[in-house]
Amino acid sequence: MNRVAVIGAGAMGAGIAQVAAQHGWQVHMQDVNDDVVGDAIAGIRKRFDRLVEKGRLTGDEAQAAHDRLQVVGEALPECDLVIEAIVEDMDVKAAVLGDIVSQLGPEAIIATNTSSLSVSELGERLGVAERCCGMHFFNPAPIMKLVEVVRGRETADAVLDRVADIAASWGKQVARCADTPGFIVNRVARPYYLEAFRIVEDGLASPEFIDHTMKSLGGFRMGPLELTDFIGHDVNTATTRTVWNQWNQSSRLAPSWLQESLVAEGHLGRKSGRGVYEHGGDAPVCVVQVAVPQPTVDDAVQHAANAFTTSACDAEHDGAEAIVFARILGALINEAMWAEHDGVATAGDIDTAVQYGVNYPQGLLTWRDAIGPPQVSALLQALDAATDDDRFVAPM
Ligand SMILES: NC(=O)c1ccc[n+]([C@@H]2O[C@H](COP(=O)([O-])OP(=O)(O)OC[C@H]3O[C@@H](n4cnc5c(N)ncnc54)[C@H](O)[C@@H]3O)[C@@H](O)[C@H]2O)c1
Repeated sequence: MNRVAVIGAGAMGAGIAQVAAQHGWQVHMQDVNDDVVGDAIAGIRKRFDRLVEKGRLTGDEAQAAHDRLQVVGEALPECDLVIEAIVEDMDVKAAVLGDIVSQLGPEAIIATNTSSLSVSELGERLGVAERCCGMHFFNPAPIMKLVEVVRGRETADAVLDRVADIAASWGKQVARCADTPGFIVNRVARPYYLEAFRIVEDGLASPEFIDHTMKSLGGFRMGPLELTDFIGHDVNTATTRTVWNQWNQSSRLAPSWLQESLVAEGHLGRKSGRGVYEHGGDAPVCVVQVAVPQPTVDDAVQHAANAFTTSACDAEHDGAEAIVFARILGALINEAMWAEHDGVATAGDIDTAVQYGVNYPQGLLTWRDAIGPPQVSALLQALDAATDDDRFVAPM
């Protein structure tokens, strides 16, 4: 039987352990705190029981998967794969994995679930750079379909192929990418939130209008502002700051002062009862107002936005909804084009990542091709000419 060690039994480790056990792997779980592992296994058991109630697993399958979960202490049995999901701190990860690597066979693969640290640096510090890679799951791991398989500078191709095969055999969609800040999703999806906040800051449209437009015209499951309330503005702005700083403070990824002021005031979103919307009543009520209602829009921008939105949605659109839709989708497509240009991933992997990592209705680069690259360029040029930073500059 295949064996995986999952190190760290918090939110991500528990989810990853569940996925592996459900797909027939023997799972050895380790945490600095044994009680955490016990709680994680009890939580997984409850989730298995719910899957049985829903008819997705038989009772025997749930029992067998549960029996494949084991708590281990410092001594690990032989494993094919180690997945690390402990605190996001390079020194702690290197120290914990350093003890583990010395116990493993020469073929064992070491995968890290880090969201923001360098996979290459970790592999080098462990002295196993060729068999260390990223295996970046999304939260909650049993539900979210995507795994980004991250190539460190020296990771062997055979290791990446093996990890991609394992993730696929666990029912996941794989997007391969280079070891760059934010990998694919945490970088390419940023403009969905940031451009929406900028539109509110510019006084162009209300949060409700923006959320409604992205859902009704684009088929996004949640509007950007209600989604940031759901994620939590503290978590969302922290990721933005990390990715923005790591990408040399690119204007495309710059934080929103409005969103940061929500965090400063303690309005973190659903978890605190208030963010862009107030929660707790029958339906959320918008509590963030447009700063300067109805400023004028440049004619060239409106013209390009109308053409872009009409082409993207296969139906005529103009006015404020075309501006909102075109600014947000245009910014997303531009970031996807930059990610491809920077060699982060292929167009196909970028599209897979946004479809399965953030549930976009279609891949951004497929969408660009359907809209027509000349329409996309015309939109970005018009927006760039009317904007005082470089965020709409497209790659050459
Ligand atoms: N939460 C997310 O949405 C998310 C998504 C993708 C990736 N990640 C990444 O996954 C990793 C874990 O995140 P999380 O949200 O599960 O964190 P968490 O805080 O829920 O869990 C971390 C676990 O690591 C354990 N731990 C700490 N030091 C340890 C040590 N020395 N040895 C063994 N275990 C130790 C803690 O006891 C805790 O149970 C981080 O690298 C994070 O960046 C998180």
